[in-house]
Amino acid sequence: MAKATATANANIALVKYWGKRNKDLILPYNGNASMTCDGMTTTTTVEFSDKYKEHTVVINDEEFKKDEKDIHGHIDRICKLAGIDEKARVVSESNFPVAAGLASSASGFAALTVATAKAAGLDLDKKELSILTRQGSGSACRSIFGGFVQWHRGQKEDGSDSYAESIADKNHWPDFRMVTTIVEVKKKPVSSRGGMAQTVATCPFYKDWVETAKEDLKNVIDGIKERGFEKVASTAEFNCLKMHATMITTKPSIIYWIPATMEIIHAVRQMREEGLHAYFTMDAGPNVKVMCLKEQENEINKSLQELEGVIKTIVCRPGDGTKIIEKHLF
Ligand code: DP6
Repeated sequence: MAKATATANANIALVKYWGKRNKDLILPYNGNASMTCDGMTTTTTVEFSDKYKEHTVVINDEEFKKDEKDIHGHIDRICKLAGIDEKARVVSESNFPVAAGLASSASGFAALTVATAKAAGLDLDKKELSILTRQGSGSACRSIFGGFVQWHRGQKEDGSDSYAESIADKNHWPDFRMVTTIVEVKKKPVSSRGGMAQTVATCPFYKDWVETAKEDLKNVIDGIKERGFEKVASTAEFNCLKMHATMITTKPSIIYWIPATMEIIHAVRQMREEGLHAYFTMDAGPNVKVMCLKEQENEINKSLQELEGVIKTIVCRPGDGTKIIEKHLF
């Protein structure tokens, strides 16, 4: 089949990936973990044909220009693996703002990899798909799986043991909620790729980040298995603050937060004072994701929506991994 369509959900890290030990293969310094989120989905159709003279990529109705996330190079990587030299037309749509620290590159690269591999005639299992996806964008390798996922750091130089794997599927903990609070939809000033490279190169605390992330990962995995909300969410919040501490202490300093970000952080802490079970996490951008459980979702979501600077919220539950679907975008 020379045409295929895949869907992928975004994922939000509970233990962050921040820093590469190998930039070409995209190998992380620390193992990490995430929740795949329903409600933040990318759909991508890929067609190979000799009528195309070069790869063309259209994302949310706009022709994609080459940037540091080398989509064209990633398609070439898959073509090489499949032994085909036809060119691809790629059309991709996401139902949430891209490049604002909302993990759009995760769902984007996961859907792209799965659709391209299928259209190229490759028959890969999920582990192989996650290794392939990882080479396009690191965090995307986790979106191959649904529910709760870990990305193994691995030890090997060729990256063959650095892949994502399920911790528990979405039905293990259907009450877990990730409320994505959007305060800005602009493209971020410093990309995650550039930001993490600068952090590895100049942050004096980087080795402490790597060292302490190990215990965070163990706590988050144990917490997920036993459905211990406080254990998972409080570890995730602290892990996120440590990641931002490394960003802030690079040269030049990277500060992704804006006043509305702080507004939400303080509001979440206030909620806890009042007995609600809410914790926050943030990625390479100003938006805040608030973790809570179903029974307090409505109350927490309503309070977040009323905050100054909040444009909207998206309530996510544990979602599915990537899927091949029949309905093409073109
Ligand atoms: C802060 O996966 O976008 O969201 O591998 O360079 O494409 P590249 O980086 P990317 O970085 C994500 C960083 C993060 C944390 C996380 O999702 O684990």
